[in-house]
Amino acid sequence: MFRRSALLLRPLRTCFSSIRSSNFSSLTPTINELFTKIQTGKLQDGQEVTVHAWVRSVRKQKRIAFAQVLDGSSERLLQLVFLDVGIAADLAPGMSVKVNGVLQATKHPTEPWEVRAESVAVVGSVPAEEPYPIQKKFMTQEHLRRDLPAIRFRTNAVATNMRLRSKTTSAVSRFFEDNGFFQVHPPIVTSSDCEGAGEVFTVVSEASSMPFFGSKAYLTVSTQLHLEALVMGLARVWTLTPAFRAEKSMTSRHLSEFWMLEAEIGFADSLDQIMSIVEQLIRSIATELKEKGELDKIVTLKRAQEKQKETTGEGEDASEVVTADRVLARWDSLIGKEAEWIRLSYKDAIGILKEAEASGIATFDVPVDENEGLASEHEKWLAGTHVKGPVFVTQYPKSLKPFYMLPSPLPSSTVECFDLLVPDMGELVGGSLREHDIDRLRSVIQESGIDLDSIEWYLQLRKWGSVPHGGFGLGFERLICYLGGVYNIREAIAFPRWVERCAC
Ligand code: 4AD
Ligand code: MG
Repeated sequence: MFRRSALLLRPLRTCFSSIRSSNFSSLTPTINELFTKIQTGKLQDGQEVTVHAWVRSVRKQKRIAFAQVLDGSSERLLQLVFLDVGIAADLAPGMSVKVNGVLQATKHPTEPWEVRAESVAVVGSVPAEEPYPIQKKFMTQEHLRRDLPAIRFRTNAVATNMRLRSKTTSAVSRFFEDNGFFQVHPPIVTSSDCEGAGEVFTVVSEASSMPFFGSKAYLTVSTQLHLEALVMGLARVWTLTPAFRAEKSMTSRHLSEFWMLEAEIGFADSLDQIMSIVEQLIRSIATELKEKGELDKIVTLKRAQEKQKETTGEGEDASEVVTADRVLARWDSLIGKEAEWIRLSYKDAIGILKEAEASGIATFDVPVDENEGLASEHEKWLAGTHVKGPVFVTQYPKSLKPFYMLPSPLPSSTVECFDLLVPDMGELVGGSLREHDIDRLRSVIQESGIDLDSIEWYLQLRKWGSVPHGGFGLGFERLICYLGGVYNIREAIAFPRWVERCAC
């Protein structure tokens, strides 16, 4: 019996290993991998290469032709040179191609390598009667979003944001992994409105008028309540999950579907602990991205856009541009200084705003009122003008915040919470300690008018071995906008959804 199964296993193992290696080796290296190989000396002048890419532009002369191609693996364009013009005869922008050629060193300072193309196979052509719509000429992001929602990833501006999302996710994973957190996967469909702000989308079945799940179900506005359950078994957890809010907000920082990075920390009993984790997380993301050259890429792209605007007048409206200098200032305020980010109580923040208003240093459209919370313009002024960098505003009045937040010690009427505000944007992160006492939690739930039965599971967590805990939620697209100098949040997500817009 043993011998038979051993015999059976052997060919299987061989088969798996050959599948694995042949799959990888059969893929053509990306342009980014080619440049890495050149840098590390694995590929040299005169060696044969194969490239899969899209044609960005073609320039044909009598005896020579050039094409610039890109494959999305980085922002870099690769120049192809055709000494036989005939090979390039059918090439047009937008086509996908497979090119065989020879790597050649150039004397060009910024593009030191090109490929002398020896053969080109068109993988995907473009119709002659309908040329590729993305040409070198500038197109506004709004136009791309509206008319070419699926094609816009071939523009450098949008692809850069998508690559930044990916790199940022890796940095986030590394931070949490290094600090003892587990990544968890809470549900998207939920039976409770976590924030209690009435901004939920209801989930219904097209096929039936009865509630599919037996009771009302919503798309999650935040996975926090489920993270609180998970943290009671795993001690430190995090997730990056879609969140949905039916806010009729059309601003450059609101989406109806966005991604929220959330973490929950068990046995945390002070707000300072949570704020320190947020600060370390963002610092570590920015530091890693900078070390890996991502900041340089963003700045180079911005400078190129600035130059284009200067020389041709083409570009986004100035009011919708975050300049390269501004991006550098943002990163400097995040990681340029050792000092801890400023922490300010809500009471003090209101005092500072009122004083600024009274002395004429600042004028606001929305008057400062401690009972109303901070308006976006107040947040931006506090971070952008007053602090000139990130600032935590802590301990808001209980009446302004959701039911689950831990009250500050009496006689205070505030809760143990914070918002992290950053220049130009305002709120980037919201977090708090959570009420962990079952009786107090039950009474605030009753006061808030939430159905106790529907949230019994959440109360249960406080019944057996409850622990002090807290956590936070960070708007992932807002972080991408802040780091990437992206003005409009709709550019920071692949398929943006907002009120009256769910394009494809
Ligand atoms: O401040 P919020 O509402 O906090 C919560 O939902 C908590 N339950 C999170 C937690 O403690 N686990 O949302 C967190 C962050 C905000 O600071 C903001 O950056 C982002 O989510 N956000 C949005 N981003 C884009 N579009 C929207 N409509 C957003 N609403 C919130
Ligand atoms: Mg908030």
